[in-house]
Amino acid sequence: MSGLSGAGDVSSAEPSTASDPESPEAPVARHLLPMTAARAPSGSLAVGGVDLVALAEDVGTPVFVYDEDHLRARCKEAVACFGGGAVAYGTKAFLCKAMAALAVEEGMLLDVSTGGELAVALAAGARGSSLVFHGNNKSVPELKAALAAGVGRIVVDSFDEIQRLAALSGAGLLASGVDALLRVTPGVAAHTHEYVMTGQEDSKFGFSLAEGAADRAVEALRSVPGVRLVGAHTHVGSQIFRVDVYARVVSLLAPFLRRHGLGECCVGGGLGVAYLNREHAPSMAEWANVVRTSCAVARMPEDVRVTAEPGRSIVATAAITLYRVGTIKSLPGVRTYVAVDGGMSDNPRPVLYGSGYEAFLPRAPDAERPWAVRVVGKHCESGDILVEDARLPADLEVGDVLATPVTGAYGWSMASNYNRVERPPVVFVRGGEARVVVRRETIEDLLRLDR
Ligand code: LLP
Repeated sequence: MSGLSGAGDVSSAEPSTASDPESPEAPVARHLLPMTAARAPSGSLAVGGVDLVALAEDVGTPVFVYDEDHLRARCKEAVACFGGGAVAYGTKAFLCKAMAALAVEEGMLLDVSTGGELAVALAAGARGSSLVFHGNNKSVPELKAALAAGVGRIVVDSFDEIQRLAALSGAGLLASGVDALLRVTPGVAAHTHEYVMTGQEDSKFGFSLAEGAADRAVEALRSVPGVRLVGAHTHVGSQIFRVDVYARVVSLLAPFLRRHGLGECCVGGGLGVAYLNREHAPSMAEWANVVRTSCAVARMPEDVRVTAEPGRSIVATAAITLYRVGTIKSLPGVRTYVAVDGGMSDNPRPVLYGSGYEAFLPRAPDAERPWAVRVVGKHCESGDILVEDARLPADLEVGDVLATPVTGAYGWSMASNYNRVERPPVVFVRGGEARVVVRRETIEDLLRLDR
């Protein structure tokens, strides 16, 4: 697709903020928008030099719009913070061929956790050696696919998996060997939603450090011919705002690594991002600094490679979802419902975790938002809420393009076909050009598995 109407020269002026940028009526805050967001000549918001209102007209709604420069900048920042070859992008946050290729181009490894994610990464041209293969219940076909691809690391998660690897080794499938990390449960509760906490003892993931399972797993894994145990891995949760939790993780892992002479320590992902005007997340550099400093404090051997796996913090703020408003229902004395043409099928996070988002109108990115409404989708249940307590400009009307920012992580990747709704396309924008990297699903797509 070539340049769109309204694209081209965009003013460098950033959308302004009200006197109190944290008041609910204030325009959407600059730090929630993609890096290249700016006002187009039309006055609408442009990202990547592409006018969002014109883009919605052109490709239809709903649509996920990603700022390619923003994605690249975040990948570069991660590589700068943790070092080349030491940071994998957590593809579960958002994966398609274009994203996998972009992350690899920017020097990142890829964390894949299923046969499907593995296949997409390989289809994008990623080398097997750049992949870190995860999963708490890897099937034999998945393990075989990972071994055939020559994955750089396999993160071993259970005693059953060790048995499966032993059987594959016995069958000659580990002849060229594989490097393995042991997923350790450090017994640390991160301050986040309980559904995305993974480091506490009561977890389906990994081997408990406190209970001794991790030590036993080291012995078991070392007895499997072809498996080279190179290090330990933890991932204590997602959407973490208090990076001091990583200091605790490192302090618990260091003795384990020393005890077993292991040379790699992966601290996983989990860095949080701001979704609301009033939220401010720690930076990637702050996260990396805490990790580095705590390694020194914990007397981590100097030759231990410290690695990481950010997902959300790479992609979340890079994207905006565009919807079109279809109905506005005002219930006097109760509330106003603004219904858009997507919903829990393209963003299940509000329903699953009670996550909050901002909403705004790309035609008026600087407008105050005095009108308190609830933004809902088109699905057949009352729980189909996108923004529970949204604020929007008073002149909002049916037909407007409505945007929710910070939807780049765990939105499209968790999208469903509930109510047989076609999943939205993904568009990358850059330098005034919009590129559809995943097309919109069609009714034919929805029917293709039916016999
Ligand atoms: N490494 C491992 C082993 C993981 O399980 C995850 C995420 C990551 C890295 C990347 O974590 P991140 O940097 O994205 O926090 N659907 C939930 C989030 C689930 C996270 C799953 N694991 C949400 O929408 O909040």
